[in-house]
Order: sequence, then C-alpha cells, then structure tokens
Amino acid sequence: MKILGIETSCDETAASIVEDGQTILSNVVVSQIDIFAEYGGVIPEVAARSHLEVMMPVVDKALSDANCSWDDIDAIAVTYAPGLLGSLLIGTLTARTLAVLHEKPLYAVHHLKSHIYANWLSGAEPIFPLLALVVSGGHTQILYMPEHDNFKIIGTTNDDAVGECFDKVAKVLGLPYPGGPAIAKAAENGDAHKYRLPHPKVEGLNFSFSGLKTAVLRAIQKEVGVPISYPSHQLKDLLSKQQVADFAASFQKTAVDILCEKIQAALELYPETQSVVVAGGVSANKALREALPEAYFPTPRLSGDNGAMVAAACHYEIQSGVKPVDPYSLNIYPRISIEK
Ligand code: KG4
Ligand code: ZN
Repeated sequence: MKILGIETSCDETAASIVEDGQTILSNVVVSQIDIFAEYGGVIPEVAARSHLEVMMPVVDKALSDANCSWDDIDAIAVTYAPGLLGSLLIGTLTARTLAVLHEKPLYAVHHLKSHIYANWLSGAEPIFPLLALVVSGGHTQILYMPEHDNFKIIGTTNDDAVGECFDKVAKVLGLPYPGGPAIAKAAENGDAHKYRLPHPKVEGLNFSFSGLKTAVLRAIQKEVGVPISYPSHQLKDLLSKQQVADFAASFQKTAVDILCEKIQAALELYPETQSVVVAGGVSANKALREALPEAYFPTPRLSGDNGAMVAAACHYEIQSGVKPVDPYSLNIYPRISIEK
C-alpha cells in the first residue's frame, strides 16, 4: 500500500510516498528556514504564502521521485493539527482537492502522532508497551503507548516547549534561527559545567521550561555585570565567543538532563515499558541521543517535519481501523485527540 503524506504545519512544505508504513519511496522537504533566519522566527502569514508557492511542485516531485503515477497511490494523508492555521490550511486544502480529483481516500493525521511514527521508518520495530518522548518546537510530552495508535499523555509542559526554549535561549545568545541546531553547534566548543542552571521543581511527569530560559538570562546578566532591566537583545554584544559556547553547552546539558530525569521517572511508574522512542525536532540533538543510548530515535533527516512520518502514521491508523475523512467536510481544527 502506497500512501502520499503531506505536511505543512509550520515552515516546511513536505510530501512523501511511503510503502507499507516503512519504505520511503520519496521524501521531498522544502524548508523556509532561509526566509525566517533573517527575522529570527517564523512569520505565520509569510509561511502560509510560501507553502502555497511550492505545495504542488513538492507533491509532483514526490510522485516523480518515487516513479509513481496517481494510479499507484492508495491513500492521501495530511497533517490537520496542531500547527500554524494558515500553513495547515494550505496542506489540508491541497490534500482535500487531490483526494476529490483523484478519488483517493483521505486521512487527517495528528502532527505529534506523525513525529512518533518517524521511528518506524528507520527500519526499527520498537516493542510495546512503550514510552514516547515528544520534543518539538511546540510540544514537550511523554506518552504511554500500549499498542499501535493508542496514546495516553502522562506528562506535558506547563509552559514553554523544550524546542521553543532552545530557540529563545539562542536568540539571547545571538545565535541564528532555528536555535536548536545553532545551540548544539556552539555547545561543541563549550564547557557544559561552566554555569550551574536550576532544574525546575515540577510534580510528576510534567515539565516547565520557561524558568530555565529565565535562569539562562539571569546568569548571562550576572556574567556580564548588567542589571536585570538591561535590554536582552543587546546582551549578545557583551558576550565573547567562548562565553556563548559555555552558555550553550550548560543550557543544553540542563535541558537534556531534565528530559532524562522525567523519562527515568516515567520508566519507574510504568515498569512494563519495553522501549522508549524519542520524536520531534529536538530528537535531532546529539547530546540527547548520547544521553539516551537505549532509546529509539528517527534517522536525523526524519527528526524534523516531513511527509514520510505522516504517511507512516496513516498506515498504522488504517491498520488500527481508522476510517477516512470526507474530503468535502474535513475540519482542520483539532477534531480527534491524540488520546483517542
Ligand atoms: O518538530 P519540529 O521540526 O517542528 C515542530 O513541530 O515544532 O521541531 C522544531 C524544533 C525547533 O525548536 C528547533 O530549534 C528544534 O526543533 N531543533 C533542535 C535541533 N534541531 C531542531 N533542538 C535541539 N537540537 C537540535 N539539533
Ligand atoms: Zn513537528
């Protein structure tokens, strides 16, 4: 079974064809990073317009790279939520139109579920029951998965997502957008033990990252000797390259340690767990990969947003009995919860 997966939830326009939930026949991703690096973050209106420009060329390339015609495609899967509304609209309207035009069943897939299923695309078969650590720009969650397509959220962030925290700390340090890869790169030359940053005290399996972001800000202010009222966007001018590297390394280590502590706590609460899978953009982080050597991670090119993970998640939805949606009435707002 060949599924065309379409993903436009944020700043990547992506389409991919995946066979039987595991074999990637094509994977086309057009990133808008170059546009948003200039602004230091995503501008939703610009993102939506950029999706519109490249959406159909991306779908056509996914078909031609896979050597497929429309006759070969069994279903269309599209990200319906969560994400930027204008961006989601382009992907879902495209998928709806293509489903009507080519008479294909249409599946609306949750973005975080897709990230989790990127782990099945790397040729791996994580064993159930499993714990999924979802770490992206918008979410930080731990989910318990007793079987395919069955999710229970057991931990979530009370405020910022960990990826968002990487992006905000990078901005203060004067590093480019997206902040995650930039922090990871700067951290390579830094001392992770140089600055001691606190771990938030959050009950149970929940997270909090806004305190860590503020802790980094205060530590920088202290290091360069300015009051807390000093404009944060000017701090970068007072930091040496080595100080930036040390702050990046210390912050990254703290963020990774917090994630590992919570996974450890979750494993204690769910001792029947057979495997841990990590998903979402932050799963590309090398320090996190090294800190969780037993866990499953997507291959790095599938950590960020892509269409292959959408097609893979759709495959397991179909296997679990999920029915297609009506392309004329697809509602892009969150209709179904990832918890089911
Ligand atoms: O999953 P994703 O591509 O988009 C969302 O669904 O949000 O995640 C994007 C996030 C950004 O915050 C980005 O800074 C972060 O993933 N990220 C990283 C790395 N690569 C991307 N964070 C830490 N280390 C990385 N290597
Ligand atoms: Zn994502």
